[in-house]
Order: sequence, then structure tokens, then C-alpha cells
Amino acid sequence: MKKELNFVVNGESYNLWVEPNTLLVQVLRDELGFRGTKRSCDSGSCCACTVNLDGKAVKSCSILALQANGKEVLTIEGMANGAELHPIQQAFIDNWAFQCGFCTSGQIMAAKALLGENANPTREEIQMAMDGHLCRCTGYNMINEAIRDAAGRLQAQKAQEKAK
Ligand code: FES
Ligand code: FES
Repeated sequence: MKKELNFVVNGESYNLWVEPNTLLVQVLRDELGFRGTKRSCDSGSCCACTVNLDGKAVKSCSILALQANGKEVLTIEGMANGAELHPIQQAFIDNWAFQCGFCTSGQIMAAKALLGENANPTREEIQMAMDGHLCRCTGYNMINEAIRDAAGRLQAQKAQEKAK
């Protein structure tokens, strides 16, 4: 029997009725059209489907949609501010941190959660936080560099805002 799901995705409230066994990734992609969230292994082992749930990185193929009830989800579509990319997105571009891009939304959403908790992570801390994010083409060094770079950009942005 379907159950009611009330949650916020990328700043907008949604009210849906879903089967109890529906996965979060299914609702995001198939019901709401947020197809930037990728579905790959479907078994919790690649992290391509990572989104933020109340600021924490979660694998959306590994949790039920109803576990997001009353919570806030952020997907890659909610990162940019209009035409202006989020500093993490821009840092991925500037550091050549993707090629095909299939894993990239998951990588960026994990980086967003990490930098929300730790504004200035070391290479090792980034490596630990990104453990399990599989990328078949880019190489993990560039991704690590991009996240370090993004941390610097976000800190500079904060300092600028404070100075206003
Ligand atoms: S699709 Fe979710 S971890 Fe691979
Ligand atoms: S950029 Fe192709 S899988 Fe990561």
C-alpha cells in the first residue's frame, strides 16, 4: 500500500505517494526527473547515485524514499545558482576532474557534504571521504585536487561575504 512522502528537493517541497519499497533514486529520477543522479551498480558499491540528505552524503540506491520523509535532499541540479556554477562544480572543471562525467554528480555531492563538515580537509581526509566513489576514466588525483581547490574557493567566498 502506498504511503505519503513529504520532502524537500533542491529547495522545493514535494508531496508524493510511494510504495514502501521504492528507493530514493527511483523517486528522484523517475518521478521527479532529477536525472543528474546516476543509477549504476544499484547495490551500494559505486557511489554514482550519491545525493545529500540533510547535508550528509547518502547513496540514493541504498535507502528507501520514505527514509527521506520530512528531510531535505540536494541533488546536482540544486548546486548551481542560476547560470553560475557552484564553486565545487567550477573546481571540477578547472582541475580536469572528469571525462565521461558519469560518476561526477556523485563525486560532487560527496564533496559538498564533506566540505560542509570540514572546510579545509587534507588530501587524506578527502581520500577517506571519497572512498568507494568509482571513476573509470579520470584518475583520483585530479578529483582530490579539485576538492582541495573547491575548499579554497569556498573559504575565499565566505571571507568576501563577511567583509561586505
Ligand atoms: S548506483 Fe548506488 S552505489 Fe552504485
Ligand atoms: S569521469 Fe567517467 S567514470 Fe568518472
